[in-house]
Amino acid sequence: MIRAAITGVSSYVPEKVLTNFDLEKMVDTNDEWIVSRTGIRERHIAAENEASSDMAVKAIEKLLKETGTAATEIEAIIVATVTPDMMFPSTAALIQEKIGANRAWGYDLSGACSGFLFALKSGRSLIETGHKKVIVVGVDTMSAILDYTDRNTCILFGDGAGAVLLEPTEDENFGIIDEILRVDGTGAEALFQRAGGSRRPASHETVDAREHFIYQDGKTVFKRASTDMANVSLEVLEKNHVKGEDVGIFIPHQANKRIIDVAARKAGFREDQVLLNIDKYGNTTAATIPLGLDEVVKEGRIKAGDLVLFAAFGAGYTWGSTLLRYGPEKKA
Ligand code: UT7
Repeated sequence: MIRAAITGVSSYVPEKVLTNFDLEKMVDTNDEWIVSRTGIRERHIAAENEASSDMAVKAIEKLLKETGTAATEIEAIIVATVTPDMMFPSTAALIQEKIGANRAWGYDLSGACSGFLFALKSGRSLIETGHKKVIVVGVDTMSAILDYTDRNTCILFGDGAGAVLLEPTEDENFGIIDEILRVDGTGAEALFQRAGGSRRPASHETVDAREHFIYQDGKTVFKRASTDMANVSLEVLEKNHVKGEDVGIFIPHQANKRIIDVAARKAGFREDQVLLNIDKYGNTTAATIPLGLDEVVKEGRIKAGDLVLFAAFGAGYTWGSTLLRYGPEKKA
């Protein structure tokens, strides 16, 4: 049986760092509130003129170098993002051109904070049906849609990109084992960007009303995120007869340390099994999971063949969990 294996991972965050202390000077907030309510200490912010495709290209170029892969070998590029460079064409098309992947096709996918898991499922399907090399990238430039006068949202998010290389394997010790993915549109207006689409096209009025920025009903999203992310993680483990203690690393979406603590406790993970890097990056939406995977791989916290469990919850609502065995790593 052909399985889709993650044979490499890389990531990129912009140079500019925005700390809680910087935010204290911009809105009515303070470091103590942000750290105790979210776990975030700082986040990276894209440079002027740095868009999602630019960050994705940086992550992908590193990935190609590290895995010794030529851009011309890539057959598909799937981009999870809610902050594409433009409404159209796709960010995948822009990335294809910038990296010179002249044999690739590709597309964008909008799954918000669960976007990377949705894109991974797409990539898995392509590999299982004959593609040999697929890049899946999670990227978001949240700073482009944040209202830096709204303390409810501007403290939460950061910018970044993370990419993985998927290749086929017949070795059962590696590859994506299973995933459970969900969507529930009753949450559509709990976390959204009101204007700029076909429902409310951009106009002077929508700009004046600040409707192109993120709106979030934090408490409502918080309640759903802390139960659904834990439940779906447990569900995928049980379905595949895997015990929590056998998971090498649990990489949850990084939206709020309190949500992660609840999910990890409910799913029965020890602290050392849980990736937590929200303090450094904030919520980078589609990028949190590949950023986390890159961190644990580069730090040697996991090795090829280890069980990895991803989990996410976000706007839509969207949520899900993916179980896999990391590797085999491809080294240049
Ligand atoms: O990634 C996509 C999914 N998103 C999430 O999972 C996010 C889920 N939600 C959350 O993480 C949390 O709800 C937040 C971090 C957004 C907010 O935390 P909270 O504990 O739910 O706070 P709250 O919104 O209930 O606000 C509590 C108080 C309010 O003041 P009053 O009404 O009690 O006087 C807020 O006005 O804290 C105030 N507040 C702030 N104070 C200082 C809200 N934002 C800030 C701030 N600094 N930045």
